[in-house]
Amino acid sequence: MESPLCVSIFLLLSIFIQSSAHGQSLGLEPLGRRSRAVEENETLQETKTRFLLFERGSNEPCQIGLHRPGSLQQCGFNSSLPLVMIIHGWSLDGFLESWIWQMVTALKSQLAQPVNVALADWITLARNHYATAVQNTRLVGQEVAAFIRWLEESVPFSRSNVHLIGYSLGAHVSGFAGSYIGGKHKIGRITGLDAAGPLFEGNSPSDRLSPDDANFVDAIHTFTWEHIGLSVGIKQPIAHYDFYPNGGAFQPGCHLLEFYKHISKHGLNAIPQTIKCAHERSVHLFMDSLLHADQQSTAYLCSSMDRFSQGLCLSCKKGRCNTLGYHTRQERQSKKSKKLFLVTRAQSPFKVYHYQFKVQFLNQIEKPVEPTFTMSLLGTEKEMQKIPITLDEGITSNKTYSFLITLDSDIGELVMIKFKWENSAVWANVWNTVQTIIPWGSRPHYSGLVLKTIRVKAGETQEKMVFCPENMNDLQLHPTQEKTFVRCYINSKNLKRKNR
Ligand SMILES: *[C@@H]1O[C@H](CO)[C@@H](O)[C@H](O)[C@H]1NC(C)=O
Ligand SMILES: *[C@@H]1O[C@H](CO)[C@@H](O)[C@H](O)[C@H]1NC(C)=O
Ligand SMILES: *[C@@H]1O[C@H](CO)[C@@H](O)[C@H](O)[C@H]1NC(C)=O
Repeated sequence: MESPLCVSIFLLLSIFIQSSAHGQSLGLEPLGRRSRAVEENETLQETKTRFLLFERGSNEPCQIGLHRPGSLQQCGFNSSLPLVMIIHGWSLDGFLESWIWQMVTALKSQLAQPVNVALADWITLARNHYATAVQNTRLVGQEVAAFIRWLEESVPFSRSNVHLIGYSLGAHVSGFAGSYIGGKHKIGRITGLDAAGPLFEGNSPSDRLSPDDANFVDAIHTFTWEHIGLSVGIKQPIAHYDFYPNGGAFQPGCHLLEFYKHISKHGLNAIPQTIKCAHERSVHLFMDSLLHADQQSTAYLCSSMDRFSQGLCLSCKKGRCNTLGYHTRQERQSKKSKKLFLVTRAQSPFKVYHYQFKVQFLNQIEKPVEPTFTMSLLGTEKEMQKIPITLDEGITSNKTYSFLITLDSDIGELVMIKFKWENSAVWANVWNTVQTIIPWGSRPHYSGLVLKTIRVKAGETQEKMVFCPENMNDLQLHPTQEKTFVRCYINSKNLKRKNR
């Protein structure tokens, strides 16, 4: 990562650390899960958290007074609909961030499945030293739990219809709400949007958001880039399904160039802006799933981004893939968290199409070649020109390479691949010299690099395809040359061209 960005992240982490140092002396109260009923009467007559409801057809928030059932009606709460409650995070400036209103609008735009949209506004408690704000997450969690229980007592309503969406510290608030609510049943769903890392990473499940906190917990990790042992967003899995877009460490479009743009636009205020970019991306990815119903992003179970980048994880068998965001398939067969990976675009709509390419090379040259290739993909809907391919290692002998290619748009069904060796003309001359010097003799057909087959797997459709050279009599690939591959079936040893 480029250094000014490092500096800015370092500054933010310094703020975290500074306030953590302050906070550590206070110590985090180890409270048992569901052990303590909330002392409603004394402490919660007046909650510090404001519960705001956003009526349909109105953009004005309406405050619900806990223990004032009349306010539910006044604010237009519909007890036959689910309740989605947004819970914001730590605040530097004491203002509610603008994404909150965007999220409200996005949730209200769900006309097919209408919901009550609420906000837990705990800004007065969030605007504090980081460590103090962290301590307050428990209190706010208690208040949210009390609010839900009060709802259940006041109107015919079940906690299983509650979906808490918490960002940063708000994710842990949601977790505490889920554990403090007590009783036999759990809250329906909690979504943690880049849950805060400092003072939570490595904690026991009762001291952070965890899969125990709701019937279904999903989390999106977008800024887990670590500096001196700390990351803004929590790295460890904390949900039933943990999504790591682009690996989770950092996000496309949040890089140095944007940093300078922000500096010129906002001056020094750019620093929080830049930091927020990747952290807040979790929110925008989630909103995207509401706003672009037809462009849902699929994520795939994988052990690491490294393996994912080799295209090795694009399977949907046995629940190995899931949809990112609001429409996530809610499944929790195992207690173990599932880590899912995906690539996204740098802006909305974020969806990409994932493909695994497996290219089988035969190299009859004695020394390794390190070629650069490009591929052009022709689909039934669209064509993608010259996608660069870099193989990490040189091609030494017979080897199959697997890699991930992502496309920003849907090309339809893939029908043809043009594979080109992109090296310069100079390289081509060297190649020809090498060819004439090395006596190939008995193996005239293999005096170069031979591409036998290209196997393709499309993540989004789960379709598997095999492509063979169009011209089976000329299999060699030389620098600057392009070869065309068409769909074929592999029939035991023989390659058969598909008739189309
Ligand atoms: C709750 O508080 C009110 C006044 O604050 C008091 O009159 C009432 O007795 C309390 N109820 C219980 C159950 O403690
Ligand atoms: C509450 O929602 C249900 C289901 O959408 C709807 O039929 C009903 O009319 C709503 N009630 C009010 C008071 O808006
Ligand atoms: C590569 O494969 C070809 C054909 O299958 C075979 O003739 C050749 O010996 C193999 N080369 C190496 C180095 O394995």
